[in-house]
Amino acid sequence: MRSLLVLLLVAAASAKVFERCEWARKLKASGMDGYYGVSLADWVCLTRWESNYNTMAKNYNTDGSTDFGIFQINSYWWCNDYIINSHNACGINCSVLLSDDVTAAINCAKRVVRDPQGISTDCAPRAGLISRGRDLSSYLDGCGV
Ligand SMILES: *[C@@H]1O[C@H](CO)[C@@H](O)[C@H](O)[C@H]1NC(C)=O
Repeated sequence: MRSLLVLLLVAAASAKVFERCEWARKLKASGMDGYYGVSLADWVCLTRWESNYNTMAKNYNTDGSTDFGIFQINSYWWCNDYIINSHNACGINCSVLLSDDVTAAINCAKRVVRDPQGISTDCAPRAGLISRGRDLSSYLDGCGV
């Protein structure tokens, strides 16, 4: 019983689903608003569709790579999952991208947008949609940011 309680506490400490405005404020405080031209609304929109603001989101791709965390950062290019041969451009263990401490995830997302191949368009939920110039302001509604 005691060890079960400890396990539950550990699980609770490492899983976090952000509330939309809480996440918007966290992103802003982390210097993400306008970072390499990506607006705050764009980041919120992107993470809404990638993970629904869930730091524990993990999705497996058909090429053997995995997308990790609130930004769904891919293990082939950006982090090492010790399963596939990774470029590991962020220089991290993919597991840290699942932490409720989003520092590493935000730093790696910054690394992704600094890359010419990184994020360049306004939020396009579901791959393939071109949505440059789309009004994303609703993602920040009521957040006071
Ligand atoms: C990566 O991180 C996870 C979770 O902390 C840990 O279990 C694993 O051993 C780490 N992998 C390596 C090779 O360091």
